Amino acid sequence: KTLLVLNGPNLNMLGIREPEIYGTATYADLCRLIEAHAEKRGITVSIFQSNHEGDLVDAIQQAYGKADGIIINPAAYTHTSIALLDALKAVGLPAVEVHISDPDTREAFRKVSYVRAACVKTIKGHGFDGYLEAMDYLTGENQ
Ligand code: DQA
Repeated sequence: KTLLVLNGPNLNMLGIREPEIYGTATYADLCRLIEAHAEKRGITVSIFQSNHEGDLVDAIQQAYGKADGIIINPAAYTHTSIALLDALKAVGLPAVEVHISDPDTREAFRKVSYVRAACVKTIKGHGFDGYLEAMDYLTGENQ
């Protein structure tokens, strides 16, 4: 199986940004964790981060015909982006929405998720492990 892991704006700042919310581990640490898990499970992952909405749309479109599923933490675009929702719907790949924190317990403006309607599952508040849980969900592992 091949999975695309997409991360939206400011997630490249993990380890620096609001450590009381997101922890002190870095974005590179997150990528290493995902890659190690993929190796353990015998799957292929392609990891991409962008601060730009259109680049994330492009990455979703490019997954069409290539990936078997998408793991997406759209970060702040979760709460604003109809374009990401439409892109996920357009490619029709099973997608899991992941958030490191639990946006539902934070500010009111984080309660809305536009992408959720195009996702088979949402994992939130499990820290970096949420990405690994999403990988297992999409590959049918139960762990
Ligand atoms: C986030 C939650 C979002 O509300 C926020 O804008 C982020 C990160 C998370 O992973 O917890 O940038 O998606």
